[in-house]
Amino acid sequence: MMTPESILKALAFVTEPELKKDIVTLGLVSNVKVEGNTVSFLVRSSNPALHYRKRLEEACIHQVRRFHGDDVAILAEVEALPKSADRPVEQRKVLPNVKKIIAIASGKGGVGKSTVTANLAAGLAKRGYKVGLVDADIYGPSMPIMFDVFDEKPSLAGDEEKNKIVPVENYGVKILSIGFFAEANQAIVWRGPMASKALSQMFTDVHWGELDFMLIDLPPGTGDIHLQLVQQIPLDGVVIVSTPQAVALADARKGVGMFQLDNIKIPVLGIVENMSWFTPAELPENKYFIFGKEGAKLLAEELNVPLLGQVPLVQSIREAGDVGRPAILQTDTLQAAAFDGVIDNVLKSLDNA
Ligand SMILES: Nc1ncnc2c1ncn2[C@@H]1O[C@H](COP(=O)(O)OP(=O)(O)OP(=O)(O)O)[C@@H](O)[C@H]1O
Ligand SMILES: [Mg+2]
Repeated sequence: MMTPESILKALAFVTEPELKKDIVTLGLVSNVKVEGNTVSFLVRSSNPALHYRKRLEEACIHQVRRFHGDDVAILAEVEALPKSADRPVEQRKVLPNVKKIIAIASGKGGVGKSTVTANLAAGLAKRGYKVGLVDADIYGPSMPIMFDVFDEKPSLAGDEEKNKIVPVENYGVKILSIGFFAEANQAIVWRGPMASKALSQMFTDVHWGELDFMLIDLPPGTGDIHLQLVQQIPLDGVVIVSTPQAVALADARKGVGMFQLDNIKIPVLGIVENMSWFTPAELPENKYFIFGKEGAKLLAEELNVPLLGQVPLVQSIREAGDVGRPAILQTDTLQAAAFDGVIDNVLKSLDNA
């Protein structure tokens, strides 16, 4: 007897060549119908290429015939999966054990991307999430210092995962940075292809394990690293950091624009306004708007993306970065509260993305 169940049983013997699991477990088979001697079904393929889909179709037909004989009429349709970020996690080729992948970007340099990334990562880990952090700023890595792990070296994994790198860990965050592989005072001069290979390896050759969040700290601007990342990594969203200053906002607008391009379309989770005002430690009520007032807030409104929070310029945020203990780990300070608010809003924004 041929039934939809028996067809699924047969199709469970077909392995998706790139995802390396059977197509039924991956949830790639749908619309299975049996009418008399005719069976029809739809299979989705991780690779849109015609020859790839043809081979998958042949494998399906082969398995159905193996179970039900050569007389069955088979109408197999093989369609390409939607683009990577829209797929359920288990159907991802890259990082299938990571639930949410978020990049932190800015147009302009020095606006506090790395500071925001470090605080988001440490804060999410403090809330009990499993967090990984990739320092993709391969030209100017900051995470080894911001997490006080600059003299550590990642190790190699054991038997099962030979040749994989084990990230360094602090404050519950697994961290990988090019900074671990270079001497502190040695400038890293990458040529394009080397940089690109190094970036890929941080995702593919690392034993990340299961993660709730992976955060990626980007270099400033909208360069090759960004393009490579959006092409290779199934990003769930991007957080843009800007100061309220006009020059930073102009660059932030470009940054947002890049992620919203038709062929990229990564959800912009929102904008963090950093250095919104200066507050001196001895006068915590005072606010000095030294980079202008509410610029990033207005930009968020203009671009119709959420404002994720306003983080004041306070000396202890800079100090926390320099001693390698993110400010969000302090108790009852205004800076910790500011970063906590950003996390609440990022989580909200992810739910709506
Ligand atoms: N809200 C803040 N209050 C005080 N200091 C801050 C704040 N945000 C960032 N800083 C300091 O400003 C400097 C630049 O910040 P950071 O390195 O995070 O910027 P970035 O955008 O990652 O820079 P780059 O473009 O070079 O990667 C650092 O010394 C950091 O400690
Ligand atoms: Mg940085």
